[in-house]
Amino acid sequence: MNETIQKNLQYKKYVIDSNLEYFKPHSTKIEKTFAEDVSFSLNQNSKFISPKYFYDKKGSELFEKICDLPEYYPTRTEIQILKKIKPDLQKYLDDSFRIVELGSGSSVKTRLILDVFSNFQRRIDYFPIDISEILTESSELLQKDYDQLHITGIVDTYEGGLEFIENYDNKKNLIIFLGSSFGNFSPKEGKIFLEKINSVMKKSDLFLIGLDLVKNKKILEQAYDDSQGVTAKFNLNVLSRINDELDADFDLTNFKHVAMYNEKDQRVEMYLKSLVNQSVIISKANLSLKMSQDELIHTEHSHKYTISQIQEMMKDAGFEIKEIWQDSQKLFSLTLVSKL
Ligand code: AVJ
Repeated sequence: MNETIQKNLQYKKYVIDSNLEYFKPHSTKIEKTFAEDVSFSLNQNSKFISPKYFYDKKGSELFEKICDLPEYYPTRTEIQILKKIKPDLQKYLDDSFRIVELGSGSSVKTRLILDVFSNFQRRIDYFPIDISEILTESSELLQKDYDQLHITGIVDTYEGGLEFIENYDNKKNLIIFLGSSFGNFSPKEGKIFLEKINSVMKKSDLFLIGLDLVKNKKILEQAYDDSQGVTAKFNLNVLSRINDELDADFDLTNFKHVAMYNEKDQRVEMYLKSLVNQSVIISKANLSLKMSQDELIHTEHSHKYTISQIQEMMKDAGFEIKEIWQDSQKLFSLTLVSKL
C-alpha cells in the first residue's frame, strides 16, 4: 500500500452532494481542552489566555464588527489590494491549480480569489482547511453563489490539513493564508509554520500570504482600541466565555481592555488589566485565581513586518518571492511565493 492511500485512510470521507465533501480524521491528535489550557495559562506568574479562544459565537460576531470599524484598516486594505492585483495574480495561475485555504472563508476575500479562478476554470476545486465545523457552514454559503465550485473540506489543524493535501494528488496548489492571522505567531512559531508549508509544497505550487506592515504607533493603537469600544468588548468577551463554559465568576467591570504597540518587538500587545485586587473562581479549571490591582492577563500579540523582513523571513523558510503587493498607503501586504 502506498503512502497516499495510507494517509487518507486516517480520514473519514463525508459526501454531502456531488460538489461538496469533507474529510475528517478518525481521531484527532489529542488537543488540550479549553479547561486544561486555561488552568495552565492563568496559573502562571505572567498570566495569559491564547487568542484562539476569542472566537466563540459572540467573539466571531465581534470580530466581524471589528473588520468594519473605521480604525481597523487591515481587512478593508487587504480586500482593496486583492481587487487591484486580480490580473497580476491570474498570470501565475492556470487550469491545473486548485485553491487551498488555511481557515475557511466564505468572506469577500475568498470570493475575490474564486472570481480570479472563474475567469479561466470551468470547474474550480477549493480545499478549505479548518479545525472548526464552521467549515461546513461557510462552504454551503459559497456553493450558493458559485455553481462551478467543487469543495473538499478538511476538518483538521492546519498542520494535519497540509499533510493531507501533500499526499492527495498531483494537482498544483495555490495555498492562501489571508487576514494577517500569521501575525499571532511569535517569530519562532512563524518560522516553523512557514517551513511546514514549504515542506508540503511542490515546486509548481504557490503560497499567498497577507501580512500587516509596521507603521505609525498611533494608527496601530487606534486600530486595536477603537473609539466605539468594539475591540474592548471582543477582548473582554473571552472572560464571558470562561464564565459560560468553565463555570467561572469573572466580573467584567473589574477588567479593562489595554492595547499597546511594542516598537522593539514590532507587535500590538493586548491585555486585560485587573482594576482591583480580586479573586475569581473558575470551577471547571479547578482554579481559584487571585489578581492584584493593575495586574495583566495577556491575550494577543499581533506582529507587524517591514517589506525587508518579509523578504528575509521567506528566504529563510526556503521560498522564492514572486511578488509583494501593497496598497498605496503601504498599510498592508500580500506576498506570493514559490518553493525555492
Ligand atoms: C485575526 C489575528 C488578524 O491581529 O488584527 C483584531 C485579531 N485582535 N483586533 C489582528 C484582532 C484585535 C486580528 N487577527
